[in-house]
Amino acid sequence: MTGMQRGKFITIDGVEGAGKSTQITFICDYLKAKGVNVILTREPGGTDVGEKIRTLLLSNSTGKMHADTELMLMFSARNEHIQNKIMPALKQGDWVLSDRFTDASYAYQGGGRGLDVERIAQLEQWVLQDFTPDMTLLLDVPVEIGMSRVESRGKKDRIELEATDFFNRVRQAYIDRSEQFPERIKLIDSSQTVEHTKQQIKVILDSL
Ligand code: TMP
Repeated sequence: MTGMQRGKFITIDGVEGAGKSTQITFICDYLKAKGVNVILTREPGGTDVGEKIRTLLLSNSTGKMHADTELMLMFSARNEHIQNKIMPALKQGDWVLSDRFTDASYAYQGGGRGLDVERIAQLEQWVLQDFTPDMTLLLDVPVEIGMSRVESRGKKDRIELEATDFFNRVRQAYIDRSEQFPERIKLIDSSQTVEHTKQQIKVILDSL
């Protein structure tokens, strides 16, 4: 290895309709304007194999799936993502910005599906060892507001079809994680205007 500095790994997460897509574009442009070489990616997905797994996970035609299978597929896609995209980019000094990451498995498969957190932690240890994002921006919005934004987008995917209770558990699990890892996970109120959310993100990014 040369003396090149490793890039930073930033993830953005939150319940459906929290405004991730809008804000991630803003973050990407903001970092680029500061001269940072940043790669935008997503989970599940981000690689050829990962995108195929994503289709399997989110397509309505997939039908019912055992929660453990869902969890393992999320981590299979994540393994491809880390090995073939995230690590190589960070090593060459690029920054990586990912639309969702492991916190989503704790929130959706842990909180939403009710899987034992200890099992998720085992998979995390296997696939990630001690690798974690340098920073996670958690966009928080009440489920009713988030879901009304999703409704206006049109057809729902396999996970978006879950009931309100499911998303309330997902949201709570995200909030719990932000309390468990306050240094890494920055909770951002995303219930107001896009501009309001943007301002909070800007302050956090400047602290990097
Ligand atoms: P989205 O990126 O368009 O929000 O869609 C991804 C969906 O996959 C979303 O419903 C959250 C879900 N998901 C999980 O359930 N577990 C995970 O580990 C990840 C990365 C995503």
